Amino acid sequence: MDQTTKLSFANSFFGRSIGKKQLMAVTGLVLYGFLIGHLTGNTLLFKGAEKFNAYAEFLQSLGGLLVLVRVVLLVCFVVHIFLGIKLTRENRDARPIRYQVKKDASNTSFASKTMIYTGIILLIFIVVHLFNFTLLIPKGEGFNTFEMVAGLFSFPAYVVYYVFSMLVLGLHISHGLQSAFQTFGWNTPKFMPCIKNLSSVLGIVIAVGYISLPIFMFINHGGH
Ligand code: HEM
Repeated sequence: MDQTTKLSFANSFFGRSIGKKQLMAVTGLVLYGFLIGHLTGNTLLFKGAEKFNAYAEFLQSLGGLLVLVRVVLLVCFVVHIFLGIKLTRENRDARPIRYQVKKDASNTSFASKTMIYTGIILLIFIVVHLFNFTLLIPKGEGFNTFEMVAGLFSFPAYVVYYVFSMLVLGLHISHGLQSAFQTFGWNTPKFMPCIKNLSSVLGIVIAVGYISLPIFMFINHGGH
């Protein structure tokens, strides 16, 4: 396949064959599912080192399955980010004249207007998070993951950075979930208020859940 054919294939795949918005919604929902699973597992930090390390070892023992999950996650991240930037650019270029922006702004929420910015902040967060928690850590047999997490969250600035990032996460996913429902046409006038409330409540619950972890670790295990 030469370069032009490859480009036109990519263009038709992401542009027409499967709608960009649909792909954005599907990958977003997969990442949303991961966020819930990751938070559920991480709440074992509340139970102490033994329980949390057993969980970390269980994850490592999954071997091939873990690799598969990582690959699926990575693909979803890349596609979601790529399409997010592409759609934002297209929307900006399609916007007619400046004064009409004000009119649009009246019926779009703060969360929806800031999706690209909250998305970029989260991208930076994930890169930092992966380098600190996974990529740069040689995790051999008997590695104490709990100690590693406690060590990182013993720095107040690091805790503040996590709390800030998780607030941004809450804002991003509260609009994201609602937007996915909209993309699939599940937002009938009857259910729309309910979907909006559900997205906001889940966004708050997930953000508060994640925020509680660094704060708990700092207070209870930060002084070693
Ligand atoms: C304060 C909250 C968080 C804590 C305490 C935490 C903790 C951890 C730990 C301990 C690991 C390493 C697991 C291991 O290798 O055994 C990890 C990996 C990871 N975290 Fe988090 N995490 C948090 C928030 C997040 C958020 C908000 C996201 C996504 C937006 C995220 C995405 C990931 C990913 C993608 C991995 C790599 C998974 C893998 O290696 O298979 N984490 N996290």
